[in-house]
Amino acid sequence: MQIIAEPKKMQLLSEQLRREGKLLGFVPTMGALHEGHLRLIRKARREADVVIVSIFVNPIQFNDPEDLAKYPRTFNEDVYKLEMEGVQILFAPTAEQMYPPGFSTFVEVQNLDRYMEGAHRPGHFRGVTTVVLKLFNITKPHFAVFGLKDAQQYYIVKRMVEDLNLDVEMVPHETVREPDGLAMSSRNRLLSPESRRQATALYRALKLGKEMIFSGERDPWKVKDEMRRFLKREAPLGEIDYVEIASIPDLQPVSEIEGKILLALAVKFPEARLIDNFILLPEDRLVWNERID
Ligand code: PAJ
Repeated sequence: MQIIAEPKKMQLLSEQLRREGKLLGFVPTMGALHEGHLRLIRKARREADVVIVSIFVNPIQFNDPEDLAKYPRTFNEDVYKLEMEGVQILFAPTAEQMYPPGFSTFVEVQNLDRYMEGAHRPGHFRGVTTVVLKLFNITKPHFAVFGLKDAQQYYIVKRMVEDLNLDVEMVPHETVREPDGLAMSSRNRLLSPESRRQATALYRALKLGKEMIFSGERDPWKVKDEMRRFLKREAPLGEIDYVEIASIPDLQPVSEIEGKILLALAVKFPEARLIDNFILLPEDRLVWNERID
């Protein structure tokens, strides 16, 4: 595996590979790789000639300096895992290389960032879209794989790709979970044993909401109230940031449950803030981003 830190060098390599007719697949990450990341990478490997993975803990998408400081960094293990997966290129720049002195340009997708993660993490998505656009321009992929665990991120980046005519195909991947249902996340490793036990409540609250909706409940407030009550009881160490039901793809809270919807929540445990979601098609009783159910 080739490890490249210099953006210009990465760009030249991608240009050369494209000239050779290679199909380039890209998986952007912030490292601390887990099975969820690896599943995205395997999907890319199945479809691409060359897989490029990036590891970059993007400072401008962290609204909380403490979250940035304690974000897990496991570079050597990550490199080993990527080698095992047969990844050909790792792009791992430094913050100075991505944001040299004088850096002044930001990309913002409006409206889709108004609720859920966007409302609770000011500036977060502006940091995400800015870095993803830079990463696309540097790695020049034909397609990029994103996880639906971060559903709002996926729809916001997809909007940016459409709005700015970026020549990159967005490929979604379902949420990958631990056997007890907890969505895999780099932040899970920060949880105390008790927080880790209670963290399964996120998934179980989503299942409860899903069951209510599939049983015919169409009032979002009733569903959200039940889910909040459940979370308070099952995860007393967690503080609820939000429980939301939003339309897809515009990500606005709905007043009636219909069409494709995002059932999303965020809970702050003492050690880490966790998010999870289901994408539902209520009329078809279908969960979109899940293998099970
Ligand atoms: P990171 O949190 O490292 O996630 C990288 C990719 O892995 C994202 O597309 C995310 O949705 C996906 N992912 C993480 N956990 C997953 C899970 N349990 N199941 C399925 N997919 C999962 O998301 C970011 O990094 C950053 O915001 C980034 C896009 C790299 C920009 O900095």
